[in-house]
Amino acid sequence: MSIPENDPLFSETVYPARFIQGDLKVPPDKSISHRAVLIGSIAEGRVEVKNFLDAGDCVSTLNAMRLLGVGIEEKGPGELEIEGVGLHGLKPPSETIDCGNSGTTMRLMMGLLAAQKFPSRLTGDQYLRRRPMGRVIQPLRQMGAQLRGQEGDRYAPIEINGVSPEGVSSGQASLKPIVYDSPIASAQVKSAILLAGLYCNGKTVVREPYKSRDHTERMLHRLGATLDVKELTVAVTGPVPLHGAEIIVPGDISSAAFFMAAAALLPGSELLLRDVGLNRTRSGFLDVLEQMGTPMSGVDIPDYGLNEPSNDVLIQGAKTLKAAHIGARDIPRLIDEVPIIAVLALRAEGTTVIEGAGELRVKETDRLSALAKNLAVLGARIEERPDGLIITGPQRLKGGTVESFGDHRTAMAMAISALVANGPVTINDTACVSTSFPDFFELLRKVAIS
Ligand code: S3P
Repeated sequence: MSIPENDPLFSETVYPARFIQGDLKVPPDKSISHRAVLIGSIAEGRVEVKNFLDAGDCVSTLNAMRLLGVGIEEKGPGELEIEGVGLHGLKPPSETIDCGNSGTTMRLMMGLLAAQKFPSRLTGDQYLRRRPMGRVIQPLRQMGAQLRGQEGDRYAPIEINGVSPEGVSSGQASLKPIVYDSPIASAQVKSAILLAGLYCNGKTVVREPYKSRDHTERMLHRLGATLDVKELTVAVTGPVPLHGAEIIVPGDISSAAFFMAAAALLPGSELLLRDVGLNRTRSGFLDVLEQMGTPMSGVDIPDYGLNEPSNDVLIQGAKTLKAAHIGARDIPRLIDEVPIIAVLALRAEGTTVIEGAGELRVKETDRLSALAKNLAVLGARIEERPDGLIITGPQRLKGGTVESFGDHRTAMAMAISALVANGPVTINDTACVSTSFPDFFELLRKVAIS
């Protein structure tokens, strides 16, 4: 056992490792778990969810839907039975809905709640209350929604007035369909508009500059919505009732990525990851691993775009890693993997350029700045650009103490960097890891061999 136990609320210390060995089941996909609960709640009939992610962010969505009157029973670990209430069966919440640290909860709820005939209010933790919400308020307002945020509609708490009760009782949806050209490739923005679009009479269209993750589209399709998807354009025609179904959530490629990177970084490693989600709109990290020269298998399976594909993936340590180039069009397919790509780049030969990644500045923390600060503490030279990073490797890292900045992915990326450092790395404020990957440190201790 190379890594001692620490108090998970405050800090974790991770020690250098020789290689990674083992067989892991990574946690269920966070994005799909949110959508299973949120969309399942407005289906007519029962939705059974298998392999739901029982972690901070998704529990925020679960609590939100319960507060809106939806009966959700936990039948066993990761097993939910949702008694869907139909498009118009949600009840006014008795209190402000707390989305915790979860941007997905807040932004998707905004789309759903803007179409209800009752008022509601959304808030979140100190980090979420500083993340941009105008990007969702603006298109919803174009649809006729009445909602507002703080400081010129930029931030939560969000006050939502709901549509006029007369419109709803006379059978007319009060929101109107729009054609929205989104300035950013954001699945949260797209999903909020599509959810509001379910309640409109007619076709709501969202066009994106690059394709963002399509889990909302797949889930809506699975539950019977009328969808039309063409490359960068998605249209939903409403109103259409959704039906019950069984939803099986695959493992989260964004969580798997930390362990894949750990194995890739250490020659002699061999790691089998079970049931990793391989949706093409999410799997850009695998392309980067391939560009860098990581031996792997199990990743080439068909993705026909309806069900969520998954497979067991085997990753081996690379003898030498090579630098990669990541541009704006690649970013949406690996948006959450940039912190761990930066760690790989430090150990790769050549210059890795990451550009068009300005969105990283408005995640749970400013991830570009967090990486630059933390990696500098470990003795690395990296260039921080307004929209990316430039990293020339290979570089040796030294041990030290770094910060999570309240961000789970920053904390996990730094934990992996410790495996290839000259000494132990202590990561402060690691409670945030439980938002997506509660047993991350336990699993790392299991597979990291010193
Ligand atoms: C998510 C979309 C992405 C991603 C986030 C989860 C989702 O955010 O970074 O972790 O579930 O829709 P953006 O929509 O802001 O790009």
